[in-house]
Amino acid sequence: MNPVATGTAPLVADPARLQDHIDAFAALSEPDSGPGVTRLAYTALERQAHAVFTRWMTDLGLRVWTDAAGNTLAERSGTNPDLPALGAGSHLDSVPNAGAYDGIAGVVAAMETARLFAEADIEHAFPIRFVAFAAEEGARFGQACTGSRIVAGLTGPDDLESKSDAQGVTLAEAMRSVGFAPHEVARARWQSADWAAFLELHIEQGSVLESTGTPVGIVDQISGSTRIMIEITGRASHTGGTPMHLRADSMTAAAEVVLLAESLANDTRHRGTRISVGKMEASPGSITTIAGRTRLYVDVRDIDSDRQRLTVAELVERAKSLCERRNVTFAATALADASPVILPRRLRDTVASTCTDLQIDYRVLPSGASHDSQMINHVVPTGLIFVPSRDGISHSPVEWTSADELATGTSVLAAGLLALDQQMRPHATA
Ligand code: GLV
Ligand code: MN
Ligand code: MN
Repeated sequence: MNPVATGTAPLVADPARLQDHIDAFAALSEPDSGPGVTRLAYTALERQAHAVFTRWMTDLGLRVWTDAAGNTLAERSGTNPDLPALGAGSHLDSVPNAGAYDGIAGVVAAMETARLFAEADIEHAFPIRFVAFAAEEGARFGQACTGSRIVAGLTGPDDLESKSDAQGVTLAEAMRSVGFAPHEVARARWQSADWAAFLELHIEQGSVLESTGTPVGIVDQISGSTRIMIEITGRASHTGGTPMHLRADSMTAAAEVVLLAESLANDTRHRGTRISVGKMEASPGSITTIAGRTRLYVDVRDIDSDRQRLTVAELVERAKSLCERRNVTFAATALADASPVILPRRLRDTVASTCTDLQIDYRVLPSGASHDSQMINHVVPTGLIFVPSRDGISHSPVEWTSADELATGTSVLAAGLLALDQQMRPHATA
């Protein structure tokens, strides 16, 4: 065995191998689903991606298991069996028509780290668990980070029964369809005593790193997100026969709500709040029928938790009164809610000093997107490392990070884990 202390020759991640993994996962996409990658939460394709991760880690000699939530964990033993685990990982599911990097970058970085440790015969005192989380994206069921919420004890069976996709399939049914038992998810919960620290690598999904020419970001806080569905009901009728003044048009009211959301997010009281209506469904959905019912799916994100919830309340109040004025009815349903988090200073400092040791520039920045880190930080102190996103674009087929940038981030991840292994050892084993 080859003990590696911080400051010794760094492990160098291989860009070509990382790219091979990225390409192999990208090939696991729903056929006929349009451009980019579509590998939604709790589908057979997501499970195939977990099988790829399992095979890789098993071949490297790690102990691999899948928990009751569908998260896959691969453990490399430490030299001290009494110590809790260090961890690293991210997610393998995608939004519809995604790129190849969101979540996947962190999993392939974990896979490459496991290979580097195996090939260099690295010795560490703490066990290291590499994790591929299930169902991080909220695109299918509204709620994000289901796998990591479950391990953190933030989501249980009732929640899984109450959330559905656009086809009416509940989260619980989807889990059952790929072999998991939603009523048993409590078995997947992590105990704080079993974990020492966790690092997630992720693409930035914003343009700060690219625009400042910085290869690595260290996240200090992650935005919260509240998601609601607004249903506006008017009266479906003939587009030719119904004069303008006799309409109860749910679509025009919905359009006004979308603009209200935008103006709310842009006013000076909400600097930094982001409100988006990313999905709207009109019914009956015919060019010759006034929309009788329109549903809007609204996502409110903020790093200030009070402002996040107050903004939602204000939007609902004002949307309701504009619907009254337009003679259509209004209803709002909560879909999901996650609070912002501040990530622990200690892990940020460790990643920063790792970057300094490796002579890699970094900057500290907040995350606008949600991450598994946000959930597991409730159980285990967690650090989040960003690598650049080209043009800041994500949740799109054009999402891209170069293999070299990914390799730089992976080297930081690998060295960061070993730095934690050194720093967190109890004196007796130090
Ligand atoms: C996860 O991708 C999110 O919606 O922030
Ligand atoms: Mn992600
Ligand atoms: Mn995402």
